[in-house]
Amino acid sequence: MQTVLPAPADRLRAAASRFGTPVGVTAVQALADAAAELRAAFPDPWLRAYSLKANDVPAVVERLGALGLDANVVSRGEWAAARRAGLPNARTTLEGIGKTAGDLRAAVRAAADGDPLRWVAVESPEELDALALLAARAGLGHGDRPPLDVLLRLNPDVSPETHAGLAVGHGASKFGMTETELSAVVAATPEGGPLAIRGVHLHVGSQLGAVDAWRDAVRRGLALLALLAAGRAGLDTLDVGGGYPVGDPGSVPPPARFAGEAARLLGAIPTSRLPRRLATEPGRFLVAHASVLVARVLHVRERPGWGRIVVVDAGMTELIRPMLYGAHHGIAALTSLGRALDPGELASSGIEPARVDGPVCEGTDTFGDHALPPLRRGDLVAIADAGAYGASMASTYNGRPAIPQVLLEPDGTLVPGRPRGRLIGR
Ligand code: LLP
Repeated sequence: MQTVLPAPADRLRAAASRFGTPVGVTAVQALADAAAELRAAFPDPWLRAYSLKANDVPAVVERLGALGLDANVVSRGEWAAARRAGLPNARTTLEGIGKTAGDLRAAVRAAADGDPLRWVAVESPEELDALALLAARAGLGHGDRPPLDVLLRLNPDVSPETHAGLAVGHGASKFGMTETELSAVVAATPEGGPLAIRGVHLHVGSQLGAVDAWRDAVRRGLALLALLAAGRAGLDTLDVGGGYPVGDPGSVPPPARFAGEAARLLGAIPTSRLPRRLATEPGRFLVAHASVLVARVLHVRERPGWGRIVVVDAGMTELIRPMLYGAHHGIAALTSLGRALDPGELASSGIEPARVDGPVCEGTDTFGDHALPPLRRGDLVAIADAGAYGASMASTYNGRPAIPQVLLEPDGTLVPGRPRGRLIGR
């Protein structure tokens, strides 16, 4: 299978020589293409919020903000990254199962200061109680202080078509509330209090291989919202989460397929009962293909009976997905025995199998088997589709600083996006 890169090989080699390796290179044009495809699938009035957990490199978030994406964050850290990228609170939503008391306090403080987040999606009755207490203490919902808007996260109890580790929408997962729990929470929350319950939030899973579980979940979300809205004012919002996959064309459903399912479900609802606000919060789809991890060969070992092992200077510390989920990331050589490979040769020169391993002191630090030309120490390789859950899941294990991140402008210019991390300390 040919590895498709979003950037010309000579620009990737230029990034390696200017910034050193490993280096992450993000093609701005690929971000724009993905944003345009998402917008075409989920046009206004859909709200499209980029889920920063996929990639929180400031320059990347900034570009997506400039492309019209709103922000979806899970912590004050991601919230700060969104703000630094120019995204105002009014375009930012906070969700996530790990919100700390500090995160909740910050959301309440922003609301009390008259600069509220668009909404906070609440995971559990306990979290709602904690948030309500803070909001009441801050006087939200009283006098000239409007209440804080919240969504309630539904566990849609479906069987997502994805890796078990990414299937958060099934009943046994830790995420969200059952329909019964969620309805009870709504019934127990007085209207006119410090929190305004605005609707339902759900997320089925990531890298969804089919639309069926997602469609079932959206159907459940819409039905629950309609039921709740019949008994209470102000419930007007459904957030369907993210999950749109990336892969070879034809191998995975594009966002438009998901949107088509949503449109069919919405089409069956009388206009007067349609949710006023619909939102989606994709991460991977917007960023995965846009970034390449450029690495340098450290060792080439020929092992009789095992074949060729190529050790490169990027591994689980920079891109843990192959090790954590068995994810396949295509690898293409940018040089072979010191000689540049031009883009046309990238595919045809893939002649010998090799296992590509990372530099970390762990046997599991491997990108698996790839077809690669002859390589020696110093040669460059490009690891594809590294833009989602690469930099954001990086670690400094083995004392390895965060790698530099670079943007590749459509005119070929390389712009520093984030400097290399400090050598010592985190
Ligand atoms: N909304 C919620 C509530 C989420 O939990 C997630 C991802 C998203 C949106 C964005 O999902 P996306 O559109 O990116 O699929 N580390 C894994 C993926 C974990 C996804 C976590 N939640 C990976 O490398 O594949």
